Amino acid sequence: MSLPTVYQKRRATIAKALKAAGGGVALLPTAPECPRNRDADFSYRHDSYFYYLTGFTEPASWLVIEASGKATLFCRPKDLEREIWDGIRLGPTAAPASLGVDEAFSVDALDEKMPLLLANQNAVWFPFATHKGLETQVDGWLNTVRARVRSGAECPQSQHDLCKLLDEMRLIKDAHEIAILRRAGAISAGAHVRAMQLSAAMLRPPAKGALTKVPREVPREYHLEAELLHEFRRHGAQAPAYTSIVAAGANACILHYRADTAELKAGELCLIDAGCELHGYASDITRTFPVNGKFTPAQRTLYEIVLAAQEAAIAVTQPGKRFTDPHDAATRVLAQGMLDVGLLDQKKHGTVDDVLASGAYRQFYMHRTGHWMGMDVHDCGDYTEPGSKPREEKDALGKMVMKKPPRILRSGMVLTIEPGLYVRPAKGVPKKFWNIGIRIEDDALVTAKGCELMTRGVPVKADEIEALMRG
Ligand code: GLY
Ligand code: MN
Ligand code: MN
Repeated sequence: MSLPTVYQKRRATIAKALKAAGGGVALLPTAPECPRNRDADFSYRHDSYFYYLTGFTEPASWLVIEASGKATLFCRPKDLEREIWDGIRLGPTAAPASLGVDEAFSVDALDEKMPLLLANQNAVWFPFATHKGLETQVDGWLNTVRARVRSGAECPQSQHDLCKLLDEMRLIKDAHEIAILRRAGAISAGAHVRAMQLSAAMLRPPAKGALTKVPREVPREYHLEAELLHEFRRHGAQAPAYTSIVAAGANACILHYRADTAELKAGELCLIDAGCELHGYASDITRTFPVNGKFTPAQRTLYEIVLAAQEAAIAVTQPGKRFTDPHDAATRVLAQGMLDVGLLDQKKHGTVDDVLASGAYRQFYMHRTGHWMGMDVHDCGDYTEPGSKPREEKDALGKMVMKKPPRILRSGMVLTIEPGLYVRPAKGVPKKFWNIGIRIEDDALVTAKGCELMTRGVPVKADEIEALMRG
C-alpha cells in the first residue's frame, strides 16, 4: 500500500479536528472560473484552501470531509466534446486512485448527494464569507435534509467557519511546502538578477561593431517586466504571484504602481516588486537598483538606511519573538535615519523615541514591514496570538483600543521583511532626496534558531548590486 500523500495527511488532520469538536462534516468548493469578456475567461487559479487539501487544480470541484476521515470529491465528469476544447478532465472514476479520496461523483450530482452527506451530522463546517452564494447553497441543502425528518434524517445543529481550522494549519508550513517555497524564491531571485542585468545592458552604450541581443530601443519598465516573466516561465513557474511592480524613478513612491511604459533614465532608481507562483506557492521579492548600475550619493544614503532597517528586522525574526518585533525594529532604524539625514528636522521632531511616538516617520514609511506568505502572497493566518486576552493598546492614530497581543513567531512560519523609504517632494524635505523610493523585501522562513532568507539569490548590498550590474 502506498504512503498517504501530504493531502491525505492534511485531510486526516481536519477529520481529527472535526472529531475533537464533537463530530461533523466539512465542505469546501474550489474557486469559480471568472469570465473576462464574451467567451474568454481570466486565467484560472484554484482556491488555495481546496488545493491545500487535494492538490487538485480543476475548476467546478468540491471536497467533503467527515469526522470519520472519509473524503468525497465532486468534479467535472468526463466529456469528450468539452475535453477537445478545454483539456483533459480527471473525472470521478479516476479521482479516488489519483487523489486518494474515498469516493468521487460528478459535480452534476452535488445537489442530490450533498444533503445525504449532511444528514445525521451534528455540525457543518464550510468557509465563511469566502465563496459568493455558498451560504445560500448550504441553506438549500439543509432545507432538503429538514424535509426528510419524517424518514429519520437529522439536520446539523451548528455551522462553523472552516477557514479558522485551515488558517492555523496553513500558517505553519510543512516540509513539502517549504521545498516549493525555496524553489519559488530561487526562481524569483534569478528573475531579479536578470532584470538588473538587462537594465544595465540597455543603458550601456553599445561597443563598436559588437553583436548583441540587447534591445536597442528606449529602455522602459515593460522591458524589465518581460525579463521577469521570461525567467519565471523558463523555470516552470506557472504565473506571477501578483501583478509585478516595475517602478522607474518617482513611480517607486506609488506603493501599488504596476509595470508600465515609463523610461528608465540614467541617474534614477528602479524598484521591482515581483515574484513567481510555483505549484500554488508564492514568492515576494523587492529590490531597488540604479538603472545604469551606479547609485548616486543621495540614493546610496537612503539605500543604506533601508538595508540597515531590514537587517535589524531580520535579527529579531526568530521563534519566541512577536510578529510585530521586526516592524518595530525596522521602524526604529528608519526613524533614526530620517533624523540623521534631515528628512525629519530634529529641532521640530525631537529624538527617535519622539518620532516613533508621534508617528512622524509615516510621511516616508507608511506600510507594515511584513505579512505572512505561502500559497497566497498575503497568506492567511491570525496576526494575533490565539487564546490570549485582549489588552489595552494605542492604535496607529494614538487612540486606546483593546487588542490581542501579536502572534508569537514559531518555526515553520513564513513572512516577508520589507522596509522602505518613499520621499515625495515636500517643503522642508532636502531636494536631493525628492522622488526617491526604496524598498528591500525578502521572504523569511522562521527556523529553530532564527530565520532563513529564501530569496537571497539576488544581491541586496549596494556594492554587490553595482558589481552585478557592471558584469
Ligand atoms: N508584493 C506585495 C507585497 O509586497 O506585499
Ligand atoms: Mn510583500
Ligand atoms: Mn512585494
